[in-house]
Amino acid sequence: MSSSNTESWGSRVGLVLAMAGNAVGLGNFLRFPVQAIQNGGGTFIIPYLVCFLLMGIPLLFVEWSMGRFGGKYGHHSTPFILDSMSKQAFWKYIGVFGIFTNLAVAAYYCYLESWTLGYIWHSVAGTFDGQTRDEVANFFTNYTSLSDAQPIIFWVICLLLNTWILSRGLSGGVEKVAKIGMPLLILFGVILAIRGVSLQPGTNNALYAGTDGLNYLWTPDFSTIWSPKVWLAAAGQIFFTLSVGMGSIQCYSSYLRSRDDVALNAMSAGWMNEFVEVCLGGAIVIPITVGYFGIDGMLELVNKVGGLGLGFRTLPFLFQQWGPFLAIAASVMWFGLLFFAGITSSLAMGTPCMGFLQDEFGWKRENAAWAFGATVGILGLPTVLFFNYGVFDEYDHWAGTVSLVVFAFFEIILFAWIFGMKKGWEEITRGADIKVPIIFKYIIQYVTPVILGWVLIASMPANWDKIMNTGLYAQIAAATDPAVIANLEKTIMYQNIARIGLLALWIGIAVLVYIAYRKRLREGRFTH
Ligand code: PHE
Repeated sequence: MSSSNTESWGSRVGLVLAMAGNAVGLGNFLRFPVQAIQNGGGTFIIPYLVCFLLMGIPLLFVEWSMGRFGGKYGHHSTPFILDSMSKQAFWKYIGVFGIFTNLAVAAYYCYLESWTLGYIWHSVAGTFDGQTRDEVANFFTNYTSLSDAQPIIFWVICLLLNTWILSRGLSGGVEKVAKIGMPLLILFGVILAIRGVSLQPGTNNALYAGTDGLNYLWTPDFSTIWSPKVWLAAAGQIFFTLSVGMGSIQCYSSYLRSRDDVALNAMSAGWMNEFVEVCLGGAIVIPITVGYFGIDGMLELVNKVGGLGLGFRTLPFLFQQWGPFLAIAASVMWFGLLFFAGITSSLAMGTPCMGFLQDEFGWKRENAAWAFGATVGILGLPTVLFFNYGVFDEYDHWAGTVSLVVFAFFEIILFAWIFGMKKGWEEITRGADIKVPIIFKYIIQYVTPVILGWVLIASMPANWDKIMNTGLYAQIAAATDPAVIANLEKTIMYQNIARIGLLALWIGIAVLVYIAYRKRLREGRFTH
């Protein structure tokens, strides 16, 4: 028997926009530019492109076709999609990652997304009008240290909005948002990027040219190109930005019909993401910041406040230099585009766990959406309350970075070696509207797994240090001020709690998968 979950996509354009919306997210505008800068600007882009070709594209093909394959048997989340591809029982527990990561990432992502609503509100209300640089920056500090209830209100609104859209289903909710949000996002992005690169010294109080920033970002510097750190950062960014290794692509594509194209669709959504990331994401924050602070000033800021800082502390102040009308317009466009980028991604994070509840426990879509909203609310609360103690970063590291690689490594082994590349290639090419170059067959079978294995191994020492809190203990040892020490100790405590919480979440989902499996056996429902 297959699932009673009979959703489907309304149109091909809608599907591609929803998938592109899934991939295009805050990562494209805030994470990418900073990763590029911190890893040497022009040095970063080569490993980044290589990772896109050798890991990103292959994983897109694999995930899209896996999803469509599982969907044929009525599976819409990775535990049973993976299960349907092998006779071995344990793959469904690898599939736990594909629900876990979405919930844990959504937990901090929705909070970030809600800041954009708060900032749109304040931009329109003119809060930043005439504020000094410090005042704008302090606004952010006050906001994230919850000096009043507003951030919590915006966060709850954001959760309710996500839940409501999800409860309307794929074609009635997710697809509609993508069809409105993606074109607007691109429009706003293009306008801001043009402003960014056309900044000239002397106009609008700028001191330098915006193109200096672009040059910095794009001039190759080969001195650090072999550094593992740069490659790990590039691989991590490819994962995060394409949403591969997450389970959300498989879920979206499980609602396709078995003869629908996956190859061209996967490429359309993937390349659209790269266009937005490299052409728009790279042409806004960095050029504008460089226009006012120069290269050195920008570098100092990036290292001090990171992507979130540039986007929320610095840009609203710089927009003020463009005159009262443009200041409001630019701010609304900037936070508006971040909002659309964010919501089309967080909606994608909601669907795997909903699919699981609908398929396995017969839940109604509305109830499944509420379950997602409530879970994200509970898991997200610590990131909201203890943001300044690194809880947010902890979620981002374990769920938003490490889990993706672990999951992707296992799924590609399953796909290429257990399910088998012969069948795998048939899945990728069946119904394809483009001719997929045969080289990808070999890349998927040999190259991608090796690179993924290397990434896993190479990132182990840093992860181990993280688990042991090595860096924080070193800071404690070097500190003399008791207040600083107390603060660091508190950070360690909150981070440890966050990790245990994440582990408990993973185990909780695994238990549900076990229960679902037993239920299937009892009811005689075949898993494949
Ligand atoms: N790809 C999104 C971004 O760039 C993040 C994301 C991860 C979305 C996982 C969905 C699932 O911000």
